[in-house]
Amino acid sequence: MTESNNKWEYAPSLESTSHIQLKERYDLFIDGKWVKPSDNRYFSSINPATEEKIAEIAWASDADVDLAVKAARKAYTEVWSVMKPSERAKYIFRIARLMQEKARELAVIETLDGGKPIRESRDIDIPLACNHFFYYAGWADKLQDAFPQRNIQSLGVAGQIIPWNFPLLMAAWKIAPALAAGNTVVLKPAESTSLTALKLAEIIEASGLPAGVVNIVTGHGDTGAAIVNHPDIDKIAFTGSTSVGKLIQKAVAGTAKKVSLELGGKSANIVLEDAPIDQAVEGIVNGIFFNQGHVCCAGSRLYVQESIADEVVRKLKQRMESLYLGNPLDKNTDIGAINSKEQLQTIEKYVEIGKKEGADMYQVTCELPAKGFYCRPTIFTNVAQSSVIAQEEIFGPVLTVQTFRTIDEVIQKANNSPYGLAAGVWTDKGSRIFNLTSKLRAGVVWANTYNKFDPASPFGGYKESGFGREGGLHGLEAYLK
Ligand code: NAI
Ligand code: MG
Repeated sequence: MTESNNKWEYAPSLESTSHIQLKERYDLFIDGKWVKPSDNRYFSSINPATEEKIAEIAWASDADVDLAVKAARKAYTEVWSVMKPSERAKYIFRIARLMQEKARELAVIETLDGGKPIRESRDIDIPLACNHFFYYAGWADKLQDAFPQRNIQSLGVAGQIIPWNFPLLMAAWKIAPALAAGNTVVLKPAESTSLTALKLAEIIEASGLPAGVVNIVTGHGDTGAAIVNHPDIDKIAFTGSTSVGKLIQKAVAGTAKKVSLELGGKSANIVLEDAPIDQAVEGIVNGIFFNQGHVCCAGSRLYVQESIADEVVRKLKQRMESLYLGNPLDKNTDIGAINSKEQLQTIEKYVEIGKKEGADMYQVTCELPAKGFYCRPTIFTNVAQSSVIAQEEIFGPVLTVQTFRTIDEVIQKANNSPYGLAAGVWTDKGSRIFNLTSKLRAGVVWANTYNKFDPASPFGGYKESGFGREGGLHGLEAYLK
């Protein structure tokens, strides 16, 4: 360990890319076939860590979306909704197993396309995505047991629009419960991270899933809007920004479409004076720097009880200095690349606002790679509750730190947010955990841990964080009448 950077020097340990198979150009996956976009438009997907182009992706027009919806409707009416549930389950299991077989390839592609550290895509994103398919496959023939005494029915065609922060995992969160409940799907991945959804389309093709049950249409926001506005879609499921979420809500108001929205967050991570401090510091780091802070439930507001604040901040800075920032394909890397140039600019804009608002900034001193989109892990102390950086979602590795004296004060501060997705509580006492979890207005509250997910537990928010739950039985209910 060197004095200057408080860091062990590791030799680079790059994950190999020789085993992955990528085409130069990807078309749309509609009705079980690869279809060229009707107006022959393509866009590039780049590697945000190097700014190199990886592949060309089809940009679906309204006509292509219409084709996909028609295929999904036909597959729904003629095949999927009339198939025995136990048969449907077999297909979903088969997709899960094929994903598992290709886990290594999927992890590398996720990292190349999105910039997240290989350790995360390999150990978290891909295994969880597989587990979602396994989990919901298990429910497919037990729906009536899941909802006893209710006459349940599938909805029809689901239009699903997902973001770039957990590309394959979000696709799994959306597709698996929809299929298990007997619906067919038109899914649009985010424009900066379409590749693993397209690899999933190849897996779905290989699984023999009947044509049209899952259609993957790539494109930008206009492609998403074409899905939202299509008259023959029964359900819209969206994860992404609050602004687009509000547009979607307006667009479907007055129609028969069901909607679930999973939007932003500004989640509070609360450390009480009796907390195990080193563990809490790890949890704070994981809460905000995991996936470069591209996490809707990131613990982006830290509240530390006054008596331990100096110690926590000192240890936090020390731990931040030991984080490895760099090539996401390196197995040592803790902090990879920011997903896109636009997102990096958004984060940098907030850092400037924080400085102007008079908060004290601390940034890790490491060097940034010459190419690619990177952001140093950053914390702001001396932050006012009303400041922009404590109120608005930054979606990057930027943490605000505030102190509090009493539990009532911290509950009031934590709840003083337009969002309500998640929260974390660090304390030695179970009674305090229960007290806080009952009063925090957040969909998920973690105690002495952070950013833990499981297919069996529902996830979703209060207030502007959206509505509807994903995961568990709640996630299934969202796709049933
Ligand atoms: P976005 O909301 O624009 O993108 C999410 C998805 O929606 C993408 O697939 C996009 O193509 C699609 N989309 C865009 N405009 C649409 C429209 N009018 N109709 C239908 N679909 C549309 O998010 P963006 O611009 O990539 O990120 C902006 C901010 O949103 C981030 O800085 C972050 O604060 C937040 N965000 C939150 C996420 C979450 O998990 N809750 C995920 C991604 C972003
Ligand atoms: Mg990309």
